[in-house]
Amino acid sequence: MALVAPSLLASNFLRLEDECRMLNESQADWFHLDVMDGRFVPNISFGLPVIEQIRTATTKTCDVHLMIEEPEKFVEAFKKAGADRISVHFEACRHLHRNIQQIQALGMKAGVALNPHTPVESLCDILQDVDQVLIMSVNPGFGGQHFIPHTYHKIRTLKRMLHERGLSTLIEIDGGITLENASSILRSGADVLVAGNTVFKSADPKATIRALKNMD
Ligand code: DX5
Ligand code: ZN
Repeated sequence: MALVAPSLLASNFLRLEDECRMLNESQADWFHLDVMDGRFVPNISFGLPVIEQIRTATTKTCDVHLMIEEPEKFVEAFKKAGADRISVHFEACRHLHRNIQQIQALGMKAGVALNPHTPVESLCDILQDVDQVLIMSVNPGFGGQHFIPHTYHKIRTLKRMLHERGLSTLIEIDGGITLENASSILRSGADVLVAGNTVFKSADPKATIRALKNMD
């Protein structure tokens, strides 16, 4: 069964407590928290104080997606703010292996995120050390964009690479996921579905989460 990680980027920030309560009552597995710095991506979202508040409103897993330069400077602060899992971008890390070790040494699960142009093959010498791979299926920085179809190929290739190595690393897909494409994404080999607009802009977010959860 898929893990569902609604992205709070698409939530109503004026009603963040209600949005957290809704997710708590839903079948959502993780809270997906998108942090943007205006440098790695052309947008700024939210950061530490907001995540600290969200932490007090849920016991579910907080999955932090750092779309920032020099993430190593901040992972400890995000741990203190309440992160359970942190993904850093392949393109933002000169010393990715060290960054992954740093996240795990702090007691968190570590992920590497890939921009649409970054081949999954780039991970062949680090796959054995990461807990999850986040494949961006849109260009990072904004919610509400269209899913890039080439992502299916990347998911299948990564799944094969993991299988060959006997690894059970989670494959997380982020961007443009809808009720229409979710099942093809899962059939390609994804484990975690991140969904922002599809969940929060739907008439019944809990029912949408349930539908994603029961997708096969
Ligand atoms: C984009 C973020 C995504 C985004 C997904 O940079 O990483 O998590 O919130 O939003 P939707 O599901 O609306 O494409
Ligand atoms: Zn994200």
